[in-house]
Amino acid sequence: MTDLVAIARSFFAPGKGLLAADESVETATIRLASHGIQTGEEMRRQFRDLFIGAEGIEESLSGVILFTETLREKGNDKKLFTKSLTTRGIHPGVKVDLGTEPFPTSPHELITKGLFDLPERLAEYKKQGAVFTKWRAIIRIDGDTLPTAVAIYENAKRLASYAREVQMAGLVPILEPEVLLGGKHSRRRARAVIEETLGVLFSALEEQSVDRASVIVKTAMALSGSDSEKKDTPLEVAEDTIAALVASVPRQVAGIVFLSGGQTPDQATDNLSAICRLSKENGGTPWPLTFSYARALQDEALGMWKGKKENVPAARAAFLARLAKVSAAVDHS
Ligand code: G3H
Repeated sequence: MTDLVAIARSFFAPGKGLLAADESVETATIRLASHGIQTGEEMRRQFRDLFIGAEGIEESLSGVILFTETLREKGNDKKLFTKSLTTRGIHPGVKVDLGTEPFPTSPHELITKGLFDLPERLAEYKKQGAVFTKWRAIIRIDGDTLPTAVAIYENAKRLASYAREVQMAGLVPILEPEVLLGGKHSRRRARAVIEETLGVLFSALEEQSVDRASVIVKTAMALSGSDSEKKDTPLEVAEDTIAALVASVPRQVAGIVFLSGGQTPDQATDNLSAICRLSKENGGTPWPLTFSYARALQDEALGMWKGKKENVPAARAAFLARLAKVSAAVDHS
């Protein structure tokens, strides 16, 4: 039988974390277009190859979250991406939610879909080499009105159903209830919403008998909204983020990973470093911490690549340089 707890814990080896390379077709198209790159399936494959094909990523990556189409694709070295990751000791995983739709009870909020045929899809992803999965829910803050308790609860219930199915399929679930950075809210409000969201999530996990020990939580940091005037210091972010997590995440959980959420690569690196340093100074958090970034790891490289073969070496060098900084941020040994 697969030892899910051991796999879940293995993501947190010193200095290692995850690359989120699981942008859906829609998100990848927008992301690449913002760098002047026209997309189609082949350009998306090259986009994945830019990062997965970079030499030496295994020094800082324990896992890569893929989008479903990437599970079936090969890199420029003619090897399946999943195989090329596995042979370097990096776990391949897959985003299994099918995006969001407006929540009928509260139409300004979104609810994540994808539970309907999940067991069949999980069996297929497992055959294709995935050892873990991700499901993302979106929680938006708007003043004191959003998020509503019902939207938090419905997203939590679906995350819990997802986690249960994934564990039954012999895969490790990453649960990502992302509290969005967009808005004018304060850092304290973000902290309270993260705490409430995770608290509700863990009650839902208990209701559905999900094994907490093989669960990985993926969370935003507690940050002032991107439209607020306030610029948080890394120490402020670290204090509020750790406080929210300590108040809501049971100690049995395998570990916590952070998303970058629209922070610049430098902010995402500095804030992560402060979180890990503060945790260490206080004798450590009950669970290991690391990164699971998409934009903060990829954006500088995409800016250099521009979809051109001749720019691949420089773009990979930029990616590896950022990866080394993010890896150093989680390794204060
Ligand atoms: O779902 C979002 C990704 O897993 C993390 O992306 O680091 O760009 O926020 P991000």
